[in-house]
Amino acid sequence: MRKNIVAGNWKMNTTLPEGLELAKNVNKALENVDAKCDVIICTPFTHLASVNAVIDKNKLGLGAENCADHRSGAYTGEISAPMVASTGATYVILGHSERRQYYGETSETLKEKVALALENGLTPIFCIGEVLEERENGTAFDVVKAQIEEALFNLSAEDFGKLILAYEPVWAIGTGKTATDDQAEEMHAFIRGVIADKYGKEVAENTSILYGGSCKPSNAKALFAKPNVDGGLIGGAALDADSFMGIVTAFE
Ligand code: PGA
Repeated sequence: MRKNIVAGNWKMNTTLPEGLELAKNVNKALENVDAKCDVIICTPFTHLASVNAVIDKNKLGLGAENCADHRSGAYTGEISAPMVASTGATYVILGHSERRQYYGETSETLKEKVALALENGLTPIFCIGEVLEERENGTAFDVVKAQIEEALFNLSAEDFGKLILAYEPVWAIGTGKTATDDQAEEMHAFIRGVIADKYGKEVAENTSILYGGSCKPSNAKALFAKPNVDGGLIGGAALDADSFMGIVTAFE
């Protein structure tokens, strides 16, 4: 059966000392709760090796927020999947809407990133989601389906089964405007159907699909109660250990 997962996406926040402090606080808080979900923090590249050294990886997973679409070479400033893996991180967020929007990431580059992540033993947390205009003009479902098909449907069923998906309606990210639990459930069920049509029911049932976009302690419980919502990808609320734990403990 698929896992319930709460993953933090720190984005471009925290200096190294601040990040270490936050990671330690989350790690400590997890010692005192019986978490009913896997818990992951995805931090800036600069923090990975140091955070890896201070957390209990049996309780808290570690991931990067991106990786390069090349294995190595003359790509100044880029960080490759093997580099990420060498820090001890085992997850990587790919295709976040901020990467698509501000850094021009396309399904073609994401296909390369997913392949390199898998090749290096990293679990991609692959993000999909429509912008407001697409939600309003009724194309949200087509857009999300195309994002999945274009970047992921070249994978074998075995490799697809290694992914975590995150549905993040772009209009809900950092805006305080959360999708309703019914809107999330409707899209998550649709996504599971798209996966089932391609890879069969078993792969679809085993894929964890997280919701992201202004998820916080006050709305996490209702979202996670939906049958097709398997947890959350958390931005702003992951930057404070107490609010992040408020979301982790929304699973009972
Ligand atoms: P948010 O971000 O929780 O701050 O809306 C979520 C995300 O972008 O992953």
